[in-house]
Amino acid sequence: MIMSNTEQTLSIIKPDAVERNLDKEIKEIFKNKGFSIVNEKKIKIEKSEAERFYKVHETKPFYNDLCAYLSSGPIVVMILEKENAVLGNRELMGATNPNDAEEGTIRKKYGISIDKNSVHGSDSVENAKIEIDFFFKD
Ligand code: CMP
Repeated sequence: MIMSNTEQTLSIIKPDAVERNLDKEIKEIFKNKGFSIVNEKKIKIEKSEAERFYKVHETKPFYNDLCAYLSSGPIVVMILEKENAVLGNRELMGATNPNDAEEGTIRKKYGISIDKNSVHGSDSVENAKIEIDFFFKD
């Protein structure tokens, strides 16, 4: 029996990439890798919303800067869908720090620093559901 495991994951194109007008190019990369973009919107969020979104990191030393950064300019939030989308997106993004990211990954190609690393992606199926609801549940 062939089992299919279609998943959805949340992707964010961060302010550094939107500011450099890379959103269209990054969306093409996802599509070329077989992801469907089932919903997307370009928004600017308040710092308080970024704080809620990144609440798992609230004890980290970089939390304040991270939230200030995500709310500093427009972002593109997307629901990506594909077989094993969560892991596939993480592989396509590459390591959190662009310096450690492998050739061919989005962060290697576009990331500027660990903060300005161009994209965010859900780290588990469970968090993907929470993050998708965060931006797309009305
Ligand atoms: P992201 O995948 O959006 O999840 C949290 C973000 O925190 C991460 O990408 C980085 O941009 C940022 N960040 C800043 N410093 C660190 C750090 N030392 N370790 C992990 N993430 C960091």
